[in-house]
Amino acid sequence: MNIAIFASGTGTNAQEIINRFKNHPHLTVSLIVCNKKGAGVTNIAATENIPVLSIEKEVFFNSDQYLLELKAKNIECIVLAGFLWKLPGYLVAAYPGRILNIHPALLPRHGGKGMWGNHVHKAVLEAGDKESGITIHYVDEHYDNGAIIFQARCPVLPGDTPEVLAERIHHLEHEHFPRVIEETLCTS
Ligand code: GRF
Repeated sequence: MNIAIFASGTGTNAQEIINRFKNHPHLTVSLIVCNKKGAGVTNIAATENIPVLSIEKEVFFNSDQYLLELKAKNIECIVLAGFLWKLPGYLVAAYPGRILNIHPALLPRHGGKGMWGNHVHKAVLEAGDKESGITIHYVDEHYDNGAIIFQARCPVLPGDTPEVLAERIHHLEHEHFPRVIEETLCTS
């Protein structure tokens, strides 16, 4: 099964996923889709010899050109790992049950538009939450809304800054995301 990772950031999750599926019998990361020129994830793609599809907003939201490209490359599932645009309906409809996202908090808390990166961790700290974590879920046409597949928790400690909490969450993501993708895609 060919996976496309959609990512626009540093790509540390993408790297973990690529590592897990090297020489995997059923799953291959065949494409990185990126909407930000020069994003760290494009360097990872180059090092790993994985092609990059650079996408533009106008085309993404107003045509199905990229869907045709995904289909032409035999992409069968999509993993969002730091991709900030909401997915258009045509894309969600084309991959039912085959699009996964990771969110760096315990949904349904601290999700939705604008809740990404340190905005999320700031909100967790401002709310006085005693714990945070990660949520891996299916993607629908709304932000952070699809059915939850997996959550893992970690404490929020006194004195935490958004940066410190982000690092704790990143560890959780790297520990669980590749495995949960594998289990989900290989059993559905
Ligand atoms: C992760 O924290 C993920 O939860 C969020 O975007 C971040 C991507 O980080 N959706 P990285 O680029 O994989 O390091």
